[in-house]
Amino acid sequence: MMKENVFVMHNDVEIPLIGFGTWQIPNEEAYDAVMMALKNGYTHIDTALAYHNEENVGKAIRECKQPRENIFVTSKLPAQIKGYEETLSAFEETLTNLGLDYLDLYLIHAPWPWNEIGKDCTQENIQSWKAMEKLYNEGKIRSIGVSNFSISDIQALLDNCEIVPMVNQIPFYIGRDQEELLEFCKKHNILVEAYSPLATGELLDDPELQEMAKKYDVTVAQLAIRYCLERGTLPLPKSTHEKRIIENKQLDFKISSEDVKTLSHMRDIRK
Ligand code: A2P
Repeated sequence: MMKENVFVMHNDVEIPLIGFGTWQIPNEEAYDAVMMALKNGYTHIDTALAYHNEENVGKAIRECKQPRENIFVTSKLPAQIKGYEETLSAFEETLTNLGLDYLDLYLIHAPWPWNEIGKDCTQENIQSWKAMEKLYNEGKIRSIGVSNFSISDIQALLDNCEIVPMVNQIPFYIGRDQEELLEFCKKHNILVEAYSPLATGELLDDPELQEMAKKYDVTVAQLAIRYCLERGTLPLPKSTHEKRIIENKQLDFKISSEDVKTLSHMRDIRK
């Protein structure tokens, strides 16, 4: 459910509407980037053990002079680490790296290791999920979810575990709507988080999008990020430039339903 500045997940925990993504931000740059985001009003930061930047992401969160409970922090279990005990120890490593004593959201980064995309790891994912349920029940994580999961990957958790994931974080941008998966997640009250909302920058030069952005007097980046919200997904834009960090959060406009429809029929620019 979307409220004014937050989505409410199915366990009633609120998550700020826009998250600051940190994928591909090296550890050396992560402190400044996250500090800039926090200073400019972001209250939701997304990282992962696999990004190798948790230490400086955490340092910025600890040093930004805002109460910890005002910042929503997400991290992820690396795609190649699966199993019950393995998940518990990877979670501890993440907390140590971040220098925090709890997470707001913890995700299984992918259903398979990145060098074995498509491998059936159903049993291992179920074991990881059970470990995440334990951490959730102990109050060490306020919400738990998955990332890059297909319908069948999620269905396996629904069939074998207690807690329905609160989130599925997937690549989602204009031209890559993943309608079926979106519909499935909506049916199960799973919030979809949109990573790469700018298609890692590739949307920005598209003439059709430039034309539409002009109509709303916004940039293509703002149009693309706003589009995610119009579709009920939570965008995770990222930038290391302050001007863009600010711009990506200024989304105080609405895209008409007709234009949302036009955008939802666009082809995937990356294919
Ligand atoms: P930079 O970090 O140099 O600002 P995505 O979120 O889809 O993965 O896209 C991220 C890419 O888009 C990065 O290369 C980032 O570059 C760039 N980017 C982010 N915000 C903007 C913006 N408002 N205008 C132009 N480029 C942007």
